[in-house]
Amino acid sequence: MFDIITFGSATKDVFLEIENPLIKKESFFLELGKKIKIKKINFSSGGGGTNTAFTFSNQGFKTAYCGMIGQDDSGDEILKELEKQKINTSLIQRTKLKPTNYSIIINHPHKDRTILTYRGASSLLKSICFKKAFWFYIAPFENNKLFEKILNFANKNNIKVAVNPGYEQFKGNWIQWIKKVDIIFVNELEYNILKNKLKQFKGILNITQGPQGVSVFYNNKKYFKKTPNSKVLDRTGAGDSYASGFMSEYIRTNDIEKSMAYGVKNAISCLRKIGAKQGLLKK
Ligand SMILES: Nc1ncnc2c1ncn2[C@@H]1O[C@H](COP(=O)(O)OP(=O)(O)OP(=O)(O)O)[C@@H](O)[C@H]1O
Ligand SMILES: [Mg+2]
Repeated sequence: MFDIITFGSATKDVFLEIENPLIKKESFFLELGKKIKIKKINFSSGGGGTNTAFTFSNQGFKTAYCGMIGQDDSGDEILKELEKQKINTSLIQRTKLKPTNYSIIINHPHKDRTILTYRGASSLLKSICFKKAFWFYIAPFENNKLFEKILNFANKNNIKVAVNPGYEQFKGNWIQWIKKVDIIFVNELEYNILKNKLKQFKGILNITQGPQGVSVFYNNKKYFKKTPNSKVLDRTGAGDSYASGFMSEYIRTNDIEKSMAYGVKNAISCLRKIGAKQGLLKK
């Protein structure tokens, strides 16, 4: 029996810092026909499923990750990294049909980043060999049918569920699935799209608000946690690190305020390092 199983993507990430980037307002420019020098390069792994699994394992929970990676070098590296982190990999499937998900993150430290993302192997997950756990954490998920199967399995087996919905879930049958979920994480932008649908959600609703902090609604009560001023080197993984930090403390204590504080702490620590996993807090 696992404490928690995470579902969602696994990605190979490459972080680039460009020398003298041309930034104007909300855009930065790469000129056609030019060779552009890269000042710094970092290789890492990402994806909502594995990022959150890393926090849970850092926090001492018996953790498994369930998802699809390619039969390629990136897939091998992700598998090795998860094993080294003592995350159970028995639910991982591999495919030759598409390469492992891949992202190129062009980062401008202390400003923002642009992500070029390839959705490969992750999108091919069609079935799951279910195992039991106390909690399921579902990161943005590409296959809505399978998403509903995970929720049904969880409900039948008294497994609690936290969801960070992705765009596929936005299109899915909300009224049905939010009944089966205990905790939801959305950012402000997502909340503004889903406001009406979320009115019927009875569980713990987390709305992250970037540098401002986070609000939680539960049992007709509103909680707010401000983000302390802090240096942001790379904001990749902000949402995952908040959600997994919140979950870790919530599993331990059931205390919403403490959980929000730990979520923010994990996020800030993540944003101080390049990559979605490097800064995650250890217990
Ligand atoms: N610039 C920032 N400075 C300080 N803290 C931040 C910053 N951006 C995010 N955070 C922290 O991370 C949490 C989650 O961030 P955010 O609301 O941006 O999530 P998100 O939009 O889901 O992120 P992602 O792009 O990773 O999906 C925030 O509630 C906050 O605590
Ligand atoms: Mg997010």
